[in-house]
Amino acid sequence: LARFPFDSLLDFKAGTLRAGAAAPEVQKVTRRLSDLRDAFRDQAAVERLLAEGDPLLYEVYNVPVPEEGGELQHCTSIIQPGVVGEEFFMTAGHFHTQLATAEIYLCLRGQGILLMQEQAGNATALEMYPGVVSYIPPERAHRSVNTGMEPLVLFCVYPGDAGHDYGTLRKKGFARLVLRDGAGYRLASNPSYG
Ligand SMILES: [Fe+2]
Repeated sequence: LARFPFDSLLDFKAGTLRAGAAAPEVQKVTRRLSDLRDAFRDQAAVERLLAEGDPLLYEVYNVPVPEEGGELQHCTSIIQPGVVGEEFFMTAGHFHTQLATAEIYLCLRGQGILLMQEQAGNATALEMYPGVVSYIPPERAHRSVNTGMEPLVLFCVYPGDAGHDYGTLRKKGFARLVLRDGAGYRLASNPSYG
């Protein structure tokens, strides 16, 4: 990947990113329930939804820049509304491979929860709604949860060499669950954490 100035075009409502003039092609990643089947607590609900057609959970539009220090990765995430049992649709979540790297989210649409967790398991939850800029300090795993009725759209910026570690969370899970509670949400301890 060459170093040259370029721009990308962000649709604030849809959350899609596309390449501007002279820009590298934007990469799109799609995650369905079948990709995250073990991440949800209610496995009977997972099986029911998979039998009905494997719903779309989220998409990521990533602008490819070199995976090196000094660079800035940037992407959008679009998380669909919905529940698996009582648990809202969410992203897989990850630590950065370079643990000492932070990240910024800007919420453009919808409402949700940004779950964060230290390696020792201490968890934090911040609300996201349009205009909220969330700071994810270094050494925190992060997961986005859509608690609303429309797509949750986030714009994200993080260091070029951060990398993604999904495996640690896949093994241990998150200490907190975000569950539907009437028209709102509640946080609950994850009985199978660790
Ligand atoms: Fe990240």
